[in-house]
Amino acid sequence: MTREIKIDPVTRIEGHAKITLHQNDDGAVSDARFHVTQFRGFEKFCEGRPFHEMPAITARICGICPVSHMLGSGKAGDELMAVRIPETAVALRRLLNYAQMVQSHALSFFHLSGPDLLLGMDAPAAERNVLGLAGEHPDLAKKGIRLRQFGQELIEKLAGKKIHAAWVVPGGVNKPMDAEVREKFLNEIPEAMAIAKEALDVFKSIHDNFEREIKSFGCFPSAFLGMVDSDGHLDHYDGYLRLIDADGHKIVEDFLPSDYDSVIGEAVEQWSYLKFPYYRKKGYPDGVYRVGPLARLNVCDSCGTPEADTELEEFRGLSEGRPVDSSFYYHYARLIEIVHGLERIQQILEWPDIVAKRVRARAEANALEGVGAIEAPRGTLLHHYGIDEDGLISYVNLIVATGHNNLAMNHGVKQVAQEFVKGDEIQDGMLNRVEAIIRAFDPCLSCSTHALGKMPINIELYDNKGEKIAEQSSGL
Ligand code: MG
Ligand code: NI
Repeated sequence: MTREIKIDPVTRIEGHAKITLHQNDDGAVSDARFHVTQFRGFEKFCEGRPFHEMPAITARICGICPVSHMLGSGKAGDELMAVRIPETAVALRRLLNYAQMVQSHALSFFHLSGPDLLLGMDAPAAERNVLGLAGEHPDLAKKGIRLRQFGQELIEKLAGKKIHAAWVVPGGVNKPMDAEVREKFLNEIPEAMAIAKEALDVFKSIHDNFEREIKSFGCFPSAFLGMVDSDGHLDHYDGYLRLIDADGHKIVEDFLPSDYDSVIGEAVEQWSYLKFPYYRKKGYPDGVYRVGPLARLNVCDSCGTPEADTELEEFRGLSEGRPVDSSFYYHYARLIEIVHGLERIQQILEWPDIVAKRVRARAEANALEGVGAIEAPRGTLLHHYGIDEDGLISYVNLIVATGHNNLAMNHGVKQVAQEFVKGDEIQDGMLNRVEAIIRAFDPCLSCSTHALGKMPINIELYDNKGEKIAEQSSGL
């Protein structure tokens, strides 16, 4: 008899999806699928709109990631205008991107994954949440909120409370930064940095307790994709895309995001609305690669900032200099990236011209096609637009981080389910780990499905006759 387990819903991730696990006669997991079940057709919906409206429109794709879409879209718009945007505008966009990364990573670590990591994977579902965490570790939970606030407030001061109004525009940004804002955040950096480092110490002190999870949470050799600058440093805003293999060697020469289509293909499966990007040369589904914090730290030569580089060296010790394989270490990578983001924020704020007033280049469309790419918190984000002679959108392709990671997440779910989900007795802690591997990737299902708001994932167990025999629906 083959049984199927569906996890329904996975909480503490953003969006809507379903996981199904299939058991064979022996009660072992033979297959696992991560289904994304909602779709809004955003790419089609944009056709016919003026290209300069795209940052504001695509900011609505996701209530979690409006900042990332605004930036990717604004950069695609720069390409369509074929202009060089003011240096201050570039620095302000970078600042916004780092602020988004800090707040998003803080949310992922302290609120979404902290309960698994600090209360334990076997803690009852009713306690294994942010309230339980606040009960057990009130000081750390408060600091997590504070760190996230630093990023959120910086976004608000730059882009305004209604970020959907699109501060980022093709050609730059629509408003310079005030000197008081600069002072405020420069003063707050030491506190934020102290929290980030404390979180790193906490993670380093506990990760040895997760030996089994480290080996089974999406721990497999794969390629990795991330952005680097022309010196090979980690770069979240502009540069080249680097694709390395599981041994750390470049698979292709670093390429411009505008050439993505020659390297990356997108496959479709009947059972999911989320496409499956893959490395073309290896084909589908062998061309699996990962993006996001783990991938970025694996592909770069160095971070390019002193504190983060010290941490990176220690991180690389985990695998003796080879790429770090376990997706469990996305958590670790995220914390190092917070340190790096704060260092970069400080550098940008200290730059005298950051408060300069020229922040926008103006032009009509001068090219019919443009690709904008950034590193969003969750990984590489691509906005690819075509326009007609009137500047109206005729073609849109978006590839979001969660899409790039789709194959790897499926692989990871199967691996963790094979390790932990066995036999007829389905215990809470088993399915908790299937949820936790998904959270390690920190997917944004709102982005992937283009559906607004927060929705659960479901995990369900089915037998070979289609009967549901177990499920996890802990709700939100
Ligand atoms: Mg697409
Ligand atoms: Ni999103």
